[in-house]
Amino acid sequence: MVDARTSMIKERLKRISRIIAVSSGKGGVGKSLVATTLALTLARKGCKVGLFDLDFTSPSTHIILGAKDAQPKEEKGIVPPVVKGLEYMSLIYYCGDNAAPLRGADVSNALIELLAVTRWSQLDYLVIDMPPGIGDAVLDLIRLVKRVEFLIVTTPSRLAFETVKKQLSLLQELKMPIIGVVENMKMNSAQSIQQQTEKLGIAFLGEIPYDLKVEEAIGDETKLLGTALAQKVKEIAAGRLCVDGN
Ligand SMILES: Nc1ncnc2c1ncn2[C@@H]1O[C@H](COP(=O)(O)OP(=O)(O)OP(=O)(O)O)[C@@H](O)[C@H]1O
Ligand SMILES: [Mg+2]
Repeated sequence: MVDARTSMIKERLKRISRIIAVSSGKGGVGKSLVATTLALTLARKGCKVGLFDLDFTSPSTHIILGAKDAQPKEEKGIVPPVVKGLEYMSLIYYCGDNAAPLRGADVSNALIELLAVTRWSQLDYLVIDMPPGIGDAVLDLIRLVKRVEFLIVTTPSRLAFETVKKQLSLLQELKMPIIGVVENMKMNSAQSIQQQTEKLGIAFLGEIPYDLKVEEAIGDETKLLGTALAQKVKEIAAGRLCVDGN
């Protein structure tokens, strides 16, 4: 289907230098926390950053950020509010606290619509928090935003990494850029995820420890940036995204 909105999307995103989708074949591995912390970290380094929550089933970055009072503005499209130094957009602005039980075609439609209407300014980075899985949202994003780069999150569990491996090979088949794999909620020193990742020819970006402070930091970006999780995200950003590590 030719959709006028696809050319609109290109236009909307053309002033953004890098678009990073934080994604995982598996749910509950820490995508939203990593995406939000990465966006905040890059912004604190002086970059211009947007955070885009494209998880239609369980959007959560607004909770992590504490973005309750912000509202987008309608002006030749939708202008995202600035929340904690980030240009911020989420479906939450359209469905509030109600569930958004979208079906396949509706998910695609909502994704296309949000991409097409949101007026980001000139950004160094747009970080996208993706829904779990390798389904329609990922495939639509690849189709519509060809230059999106993937940052993949897994946990140390074989159950997570089995699914993540499928996602990695799909992305490799589609020749999509993969920044690398982050192993989150690490509780020991096993190296199996690192080894398997590198065997696939994909960069292993690092381990994020399981950090009890994360839960109490939700909704408070200053606390969040003080966690061990944020420290590792900062190191990863310094190593891979060309910002300094201090
Ligand atoms: N390094 C960590 N230390 C402690 N808790 C963590 C860590 N990373 C994530 N969590 C916790 O794990 C849970 C899942 O995190 P999060 O919501 O970011 O995952 P997700 O991959 O975005 O989930 P979904 O697939 O539902 O979108 C949350 O309760 C979060 O607080
Ligand atoms: Mg999430």
